[in-house]
Amino acid sequence: MSKQFLRTNILNYDLTNIDWSFYTKNVEEIHRYLELAEDVPTGWLHAPLEAYDALFVHIEKTAHEIRSFADVLIVIGVGGSFLGARAVQDALTPYFGAHHDGIEVIYVGQNMSGAYIKQLLDNIENKSVYVNVVSKSGGTMEPALAFRVLRQYMELHYGEKAAERIIVTTDAERGLLKKIADSSGYRQFVIPSNIGGRFSVLTAAGLLPMAVAGVDIYNLMSGAKVAALELKESRLEYNEAYRYAVLRHALYEQGYKIELLASFEPALNKFHEWWKQLFGESEGKDRKGLYPSPVNFPTDLHAIGQFIQEGSPILFETLLHFHEIGDDLAVPYDARNEDGLNYLTNRTFNEINAISKEGTARAHSEGNVPVIQLELPKLDAYHIGFLIYFFMKACAMSAYLLGVNPFDQPGVETYKLKMMELLQEHKAPKYSEF
Ligand code: PA5
Repeated sequence: MSKQFLRTNILNYDLTNIDWSFYTKNVEEIHRYLELAEDVPTGWLHAPLEAYDALFVHIEKTAHEIRSFADVLIVIGVGGSFLGARAVQDALTPYFGAHHDGIEVIYVGQNMSGAYIKQLLDNIENKSVYVNVVSKSGGTMEPALAFRVLRQYMELHYGEKAAERIIVTTDAERGLLKKIADSSGYRQFVIPSNIGGRFSVLTAAGLLPMAVAGVDIYNLMSGAKVAALELKESRLEYNEAYRYAVLRHALYEQGYKIELLASFEPALNKFHEWWKQLFGESEGKDRKGLYPSPVNFPTDLHAIGQFIQEGSPILFETLLHFHEIGDDLAVPYDARNEDGLNYLTNRTFNEINAISKEGTARAHSEGNVPVIQLELPKLDAYHIGFLIYFFMKACAMSAYLLGVNPFDQPGVETYKLKMMELLQEHKAPKYSEF
């Protein structure tokens, strides 16, 4: 089954600790619920199997226009309306320099830092700019404020033509942003009403910025489609996403409260952040849930490696590994050998990195940290598409195993209400202790 694309295993952990018959039955029930329930936002489950052609053509055409006329695309969004695009862009485009056709894709609306927004405005001065504002609800404070600034900037710099350079991605019918887009004649892409924010990366919310950055969205969706087919399997033993969900749930029940998602490729750092939001916001409720903690190795081995190895036994590790990474180079021979590293001559960096991953997995599992390994053949659009779908499906299963609703975020609403109350009272927080 999905083993061809993604392999899950766990090191140094006794699988007989897990009551497989309990999970097998529960997983099948939840699977049926996910497939059949009409009142839950599961549009993302089948979306990759649906006809995307017209949408792809529209997205690619728009992306081509943006790349032809702009130096910079500013993507405004927060949470599920930005993390996915940013994650895939970072995973699949070069580390340095501008993107495809020399365009820069930059993000705003995830913070309310005056310094960040001011410097962004300074940075785009004299550049040709397009804006893509993404918000499912159309009313989230952080992106709405950034859009207010950018909309005025665009009107000041492009006059009536500003409307041609502002693209809105939002709900088809609801929300303030939808109203603004309609009244100002902005082009619009839709986030389907049955797909929630953190499950929306494979809709126009993620696909347009990715396409502008040069990501092959056809291949990405092909990978997601294969995942949607393979992971449609209801039986736990044949479904790798469900197996991952069960492993992490079983570990949670056994007292492991933190899951580290680790990989050795810096291109995946933002992908980890997307995963963090997906699982954190879907599961952390009713005083339950694994705390999803992204780590980037080897960088973080020199920061919290000590804790992982010998600290409180409350965490397990999920190691994400792609066997093939695009670019590579060999360690050069150096006649001086002052650093004593000639024994590594001609080994490639990616090879050494993979060995470092093996060593880390062994060390951590010997330190009694359970290590789940998720392995994929190649870091490319196809396998990232597969992995995105894999995690979304695992997340929905995992949340229902925990007994929580994966598709709401009542705790986030609480912070928004409190902030609004304070803002409307015109009160600044008091820092009397300073
Ligand atoms: O998963 C979610 O629903 C949230 O994280 C949202 O994506 C985030 O709050 C942004 O919301 P919106 O797209 O409505 O601006």
